[in-house]
Amino acid sequence: MEPIIHHDSATKHVTGESVYINDMLANDQLLLGKVVFSKQAHANIKKLNIAKALKVKGVHAVLIAKDIPGENQMGPVIHDEKCLAEKEVVCIGQAIALIAAENEDALHEAEKKILIEYESLDVILDIETAIEKDNLLAPPRKIERGNVEEALGKSPHIIKGELKTNGQEHWYLETQTALAVPCEGKEMMIYASTQNPTETQAIVAEVMGISKNEVEVEVKRMGGGFGGKETQGNHVAAWAALLARATKRPVKIHLFRDDDQIMTGKRHRYLSKYEIGFDEQGKILAYKVELNADAGHATDLSMAILERATLHADNAYFLPDVQIIGKAWRTNLPSNTAYRGFGGPQGIAVIEMAIDRIARFLKKDAAEIRLLNFYKHDNNCHTPYGQKVEHNRLYTMYDKIIASSAYFNRKKEIEKFNCENEFVKRGIALTPVKFGISFTTSFLNQAGALINIYTDGTVLVNHGGTEMGQGLNTKILQIAMAELGLSPDKIKVNATNTSKVPNTSPTAASTGSDINGMAVKNAIDTIKSRLADVVIAEFEKTFSGVKTQNENIIYNNNFISDKLNPERKIEFIKIVQQAYLKQVSLSSTGFYKTPGIYFDREKGQGKPFYYFAYGMSVSEVEIDTLTGMYSLLRSDIIHDVGDSINEGIDIGQIEGGFVQGQGWVTTEELKWDKKGNLITHSPDTYKIPTVNDIPKDFRVELLKDVPNEGTILKSKAVGEPPFMLAFSVWLAIKDAVSAVGNHCEEPEFSLPATYEVILLSSEKLRAKQAVSSISKNSVY
Ligand code: MTE
Ligand code: HPA
Ligand code: MOS
Repeated sequence: MEPIIHHDSATKHVTGESVYINDMLANDQLLLGKVVFSKQAHANIKKLNIAKALKVKGVHAVLIAKDIPGENQMGPVIHDEKCLAEKEVVCIGQAIALIAAENEDALHEAEKKILIEYESLDVILDIETAIEKDNLLAPPRKIERGNVEEALGKSPHIIKGELKTNGQEHWYLETQTALAVPCEGKEMMIYASTQNPTETQAIVAEVMGISKNEVEVEVKRMGGGFGGKETQGNHVAAWAALLARATKRPVKIHLFRDDDQIMTGKRHRYLSKYEIGFDEQGKILAYKVELNADAGHATDLSMAILERATLHADNAYFLPDVQIIGKAWRTNLPSNTAYRGFGGPQGIAVIEMAIDRIARFLKKDAAEIRLLNFYKHDNNCHTPYGQKVEHNRLYTMYDKIIASSAYFNRKKEIEKFNCENEFVKRGIALTPVKFGISFTTSFLNQAGALINIYTDGTVLVNHGGTEMGQGLNTKILQIAMAELGLSPDKIKVNATNTSKVPNTSPTAASTGSDINGMAVKNAIDTIKSRLADVVIAEFEKTFSGVKTQNENIIYNNNFISDKLNPERKIEFIKIVQQAYLKQVSLSSTGFYKTPGIYFDREKGQGKPFYYFAYGMSVSEVEIDTLTGMYSLLRSDIIHDVGDSINEGIDIGQIEGGFVQGQGWVTTEELKWDKKGNLITHSPDTYKIPTVNDIPKDFRVELLKDVPNEGTILKSKAVGEPPFMLAFSVWLAIKDAVSAVGNHCEEPEFSLPATYEVILLSSEKLRAKQAVSSISKNSVY
């Protein structure tokens, strides 16, 4: 039995030992930074006067756009995002000025003394208006197969609809934070809470007008990222660097929670329009969907996210004739960004809703309609973009979860319960997920590592990924343990640092352990191949018999031994010391690129994903139709993580992803007023799931004996896919609401299905029931 390795959080987070940026021991030179942001969604800046603010006691700098030494820009892909507003502001929350001061009071005092006069301009605050005004962000995306119009024309039944899916606030526990320390000359050291240290380095260099080799970015860990720090962790780092340069002192910016919620981008809202054609059995014949994203005021990652949404419009289902169109619209809101699933949830929501409606229309069980439409093994197994769905686990999972959740029995019990209860209703739903693993921007699928072995036999592992709570560093530790045959006390995984491993991709797309794990293995392999000669020579010196061959050298239990002659074994540390004396390098870089993937955006065709991750869930809910409140009675999940590197972490990711998805589909609601102010900008108005919301009975199972060939330790990515299993909660709620009208009619429904939605939708159905029973009575 391998020892169980726990995530850092098991002890260090709980005891407070873990060091976040706010825990770093500051020196007495430290200044605090603050961002003064726009209070208008779209306006010209008529006047901007900072003179009085500069005079406030304790204030060391107040900066505006003209003080930026380099380029006034922080857009990660397209350079369309100002670091500080110049003449115009384009959303509420856009940075206009920066203040550095000795304490919070001085910051607030100075902020009050900054004079900003606006001249209001027209605003676009929703997708509908953006469409009306043709405010397209970039050319649309399209994926197509066959002739969808013809196939719709021939379909016995067609359902049309529109689905709005709301955005989502990341609610990482650690808000956006960075500490910039000016060093010698132009050098700048940044301690950042970023998923993308390399891009943070690039943006800081750009705004400072210095080269990348002058900027060092280090990430020990984030208190959550969830996509919200894939690009937008760059912003605070750039602002802190500007203030540090101006004051020649270390400056830390740690956004106040409400400011963070107001200023930063979120999951994209989508407005989707669909038409689905199907036969009597419920087999899908044609699917046409248009996905419209609210990008906010700048491009950020909106197009990549839209691309992933179009690539997941199929979810787990074979769609014979299909047309998927994606459009991103520019609005006067903060630029929306990556969030767990990266557009996948938005694409999948629509097809899951459409299938649910097919089942209700045909009065059939929705799980069975899903099964009927799953990708097949040998034919009907290509996605609309032409990738073959390999190692399809959908059928195995379906059989297992139908049995383990006693789906059909419980469905009967629910029917009985609903007959006996007028105001409390129950519902159940099964939903699958098939999620593509790899960055869809193919070149990003690369990673680097740097392994140092020291002469005391300890190992320092550097890699390009970042730890945000997902357990990447724990998995990397286990990978190094497995490859070097060492116990955990011999290995340390270092903070991520751009000067150790350069030109890295963000830790995103769930690829963290896949690609960085492989890079670590590659570096270790290089060192092992160098050590081989040393090992063979030491064996010859120490033991008699035939010479050991390279391929028989094994690393295990802190020893290096000969597979064919196990009595020949020498301590790892001894070999390391010999290697040093023999002038053999004990340090190596490693590199990995995911093989064989590509995607042609123009054609909408390719093999964008190295493999797919699969999962399935069944949820049962109870709703109170008089208050609209729901509770999640039970959720069963079965998930495919290949050979798990760490079951505790994987189960934690599945539970966490699912519950985060549950929040998105139920209680988390972003609302803006007519001027573009976010009115749900704090935890008292924005409701994330808490311990009371999680399933009362939560059963998570990993699919066993499914090694994922061709990946590190045959594992599978797990970070994002489980998020989408929460559609079972969403559709179970819809099922419960539908029971109010005895399943005669489609309930009105949206995402999130808040208490308000549940209540109003139930009341409408009840009112209709009442009318129909009155009219029935009047016949008698
Ligand atoms: N889990 C925790 N605890 N905190 C996070 O910020 N981010 C999620 C997921 N799980 C996140 C998390 C997102 S959006 C992604 S893409 C992956 O972790 C990234 O890490 P990985 O690639 O190492 O799985
Ligand atoms: N996921 C996350 N981030 C990304 C991706 C993706 O697929 N593509 C580009 N950045
Ligand atoms: Mo995750 S949304 O790819 O950071």
